[in-house]
Amino acid sequence: MATYDLVVIGTGPGGYVCAVRASQLGMKVAVVEKNATLGGTCLNVGCMPSKALLHASEMFEEAAHSFAKMGVSVSAPKLDLPAMMNFKQQGIDGNVKGVEFLMKKNKIDVLKGTGKILGTGKVEVSADGKSQVVETKNIVIATGSDIARLKGIEIDEKRIVSSTGALSLEKVPGRILVIGAGVIGLELGSVWRRLGSEVMVVEFLDRILPGMDGEIAKQFQRILEKQGFAFKLGSKVTGVEVNSKALLAKIEPAAGGAAETIEADVVLVCIGRVPYTDGLGLKEAGVALDARGRVQIDPHFATSLKGVYAIGDVVAGPMLAHKAEDEGVAVAEIIAGQAGHVNYDVIPGVVYTTPEVSSVGKTEEELKQAGIAYTVGKFPFTANGRSKVNQTTDGFVKILADAKTDRVLGVHIIGREAGEMIHEAAVLMEFGGSAEDLARTCHAHPTRSEAIKEAALAVGKRAIHM
Ligand code: FAD
Ligand code: NAI
Repeated sequence: MATYDLVVIGTGPGGYVCAVRASQLGMKVAVVEKNATLGGTCLNVGCMPSKALLHASEMFEEAAHSFAKMGVSVSAPKLDLPAMMNFKQQGIDGNVKGVEFLMKKNKIDVLKGTGKILGTGKVEVSADGKSQVVETKNIVIATGSDIARLKGIEIDEKRIVSSTGALSLEKVPGRILVIGAGVIGLELGSVWRRLGSEVMVVEFLDRILPGMDGEIAKQFQRILEKQGFAFKLGSKVTGVEVNSKALLAKIEPAAGGAAETIEADVVLVCIGRVPYTDGLGLKEAGVALDARGRVQIDPHFATSLKGVYAIGDVVAGPMLAHKAEDEGVAVAEIIAGQAGHVNYDVIPGVVYTTPEVSSVGKTEEELKQAGIAYTVGKFPFTANGRSKVNQTTDGFVKILADAKTDRVLGVHIIGREAGEMIHEAAVLMEFGGSAEDLARTCHAHPTRSEAIKEAALAVGKRAIHM
C-alpha cells in the first residue's frame, strides 16, 4: 500500500498549489482528481475559459468599434465562433499541461479517481469500478464548489445553461436572459453581448454586484447599460417554460406582485456557487460541515477529524482562485510545522469586464456599518493623461483611509486594466501603509496607475490634475 505524508483531494488552484508547496517542503505528496483533466473549475470551466472568451470578444468589439477612430481601417470583423472556441480550448489545454508538468517536476503522484476519506490517514481512490486505499499522515480536502441551482429551473447546458454551458454555446443566441447580476452574469453576459446577443439581467437585489462598493457598482451599471445591457433589479425568475421556439421566463418583483413573461433563446443561471463535498464520505468519517454545507475548519484549516484539513471554495470565504491558492500554501506550511497564514483583509477581487472592476479591503458601506471614521479620495480617469490619449476614460479610483491614522482601509477601481492596478494597493495594505505613503510614491508617467497616486493625494485634498 502506498503511503504519503500528504494526500490532497482535488487539483483546482487550491489543491495543486498546496501539493507543490508541500513537495517543496520535503513531503511525499499525492493528489487525487476525479475529473479527466487537472486544474479544477478554474482551469477547465471557470477563470481560464472565461478570460479567453472575454479577451477574444473584446478584440472583436474593438475591431468593430474602436479601430476606425484611431485611423486603423479594417473591414467589418466576421465572427468565426468555432475558431474562437478553439482559441479558448488551446488556452485551457496549455494551462492544464502546465499543472501536469508541475506535478511531474515536484514528484507528486497523480491518482485518477474519486477520493473518499475512510478516516484519519486513509483515502480510498475509486475509478472505473476499481478502488485502492492509500495511507497518508495528512489529508487536505480541496474539492471546490458546484453551481447553485434554482428550484424548478432545470439546467440542460444547451438552452438553460450554467456558466459551463455559457462557455461553450454553439451559436450566438439572439436573446440571453441572465439570472443573477454577480460576477459570472456580468462577465459572460459581456462576452455574448459583444458577439451580438441582446442581454437582460434579472437580479434579486436592488443593485448589481453585491459586496462591491456601492458607488462603483452604480457607475458600472450605467456603463453596462450604455453598452447595451438591460437590467431588471429587485426581481426574481420563478420559472422558465421551454417550448420549441423560445424560453418563456416568468419574472416577479422580489417583494411579490404581478408577474411578467420575457422571451429568451438562452437562460444563464448564475446565482452563486455551493461547496462540493459529494462522495467524500465526510459524514461517515466524522468531518463536520457548517450550516451552509461548507467544511468547517479552525483558523489553521484543521477540520473536526485529526489530520484532515480543508481549503478553497469548499470552506468559508470568497470563492476565488487566488484565495484557494494562498490557503493551499498556508496549510502546507502549517502541516510542515511552519507559520502559514492568509490575510483575509487583503484579498483582491476583480471583475474582468470592460471596464474592469477591482477592489481590495473594506467598502464604504462596510466602514459605515462598522462605525469607522474614514476619509475618501477619488480620481476620475477623465483627468488621467494616458486614459485621455487612449480615449478610455470610463471610471475612477476611490481610496478609503482611516480618518485618524490615514491607514488605507480599502481601494476600489473601475476602469481599463483595473485588475492589474489593484495590486499596488494590496501590497501597501499588507504593509499597513497610509494614503500619504501612496501619494509620496513616484508613479511612472504616463500610466493609468497615476490615478491611484492622485486619488491618494485627493485623500489629503491636494490632487494635482483635478
Ligand atoms: P476547484 O477549482 O473547484 O477544484 C476542485 C477539484 O476537486 C475539481 O477538479 C474536482 O473535480 C475535484 N474533486 C471534487 N471532489 C473530488 C473527489 N471526491 N475526488 C477527487 N476529486 C474531486 N476565480 C478567480 O479568482 N478569478 C476568476 O477570474 C474566476 N473566474 C471564474 C469563472 C467562472 C465561470 C467560474 C465558475 C468560477 C470562476 N472563479 C474565478 C472561481 C474559481 O474557479 C474558484 O474559486 C476556484 O476554482 C476554487 O478552487 P478550488 O481549488 O477550491 O476548487
Ligand atoms: P455571485 O455570488 O457573484 O452573484 C450571484 C448573484 O445572483 C447575486 O447578485 C445574487 O443577489 C443574485 N441572485 C441570487 N439568487 C437569485 C435569484 N433567485 N434571482 C435573481 N438573482 C439572484 O455568483 P456567480 O456570479 O454565480 O459566481 C459564483 C462565484 O464564482 C462568485 O462567488 C465568484 O467568487 C466566482 N467567480 C469569480 C470571478 C472573478 O473573480 N472574476 C468570475 C466568475 C466567478
